Amino acid sequence: MIDWKKFKAAVARLEKNPLAELPTELTLCKDVDGFCSKSNLKIIHTAMQCAHESAVYCEMGVFQGLSALAALSGSHDDQRLVLVDDFRELKGYGKSKDAPGLKLVRDDKRVLFYEQDCFQVMRNYMGPKWDVWYYDAGHSFAETYAALAMGRHHLADEAIVFVDDTNWNGPRTGVELAILDFGYEKLFDLGTPCNGHWTFWNGWIVLKWKAPNE
Ligand SMILES: C[S@@+](CC[C@H](N)C(=O)[O-])C[C@H]1O[C@@H](n2cnc3c(N)ncnc32)[C@H](O)[C@@H]1O
Repeated sequence: MIDWKKFKAAVARLEKNPLAELPTELTLCKDVDGFCSKSNLKIIHTAMQCAHESAVYCEMGVFQGLSALAALSGSHDDQRLVLVDDFRELKGYGKSKDAPGLKLVRDDKRVLFYEQDCFQVMRNYMGPKWDVWYYDAGHSFAETYAALAMGRHHLADEAIVFVDDTNWNGPRTGVELAILDFGYEKLFDLGTPCNGHWTFWNGWIVLKWKAPNE
């Protein structure tokens, strides 16, 4: 269960007035490095607040934990996080595995961390369904499309799905085809003028998932 009205209104407000500062409720994210702007962090945080009290957040592509911390920040005690990264990328960018943000994330009792290829995780996953899913791992067309194809089997009956870097052709076309083939609904398409932009990083697409009636 998601409070869609509240969620959509909050994102619409941010689309109009993106955040230049980190909101106070996201204190955990302060000083943690990563690939996410303040508005994206706020949207992730809001998604968890609009989901039910035992909702599960899944993130693929955790890196140093910035976006995962936004989900943790203010999550209910009964909410859970399923986080995945095999640290194949960005090895030169700081000491990813020793990063303090990542340690905070991995040590939290609500977190189940898979240090594995996300496609392997999706093939084998038997845990609780995801109410909020952020796909931020491989960014080719094939990876994005395959992720949205496989991941839908692990989504709750209703779920919020985020895909990053949608300024790039790969993720964008992967999302567009997944919408046509699997029935995701596009709620917001938050493009930016460049990569790393202060508004919505490198473009974000926010999707709604509703399980088809069999
Ligand atoms: C852009 S970073 C994620 C940024 C992060 N969400 C943040 O808030 O800063 C992408 C991450 O995805 C991971 N990754 C890429 N392909 C993967 C795969 N197939 N399985 C698991 N992790 C993967 C990389 O190791 C990298 O840490």
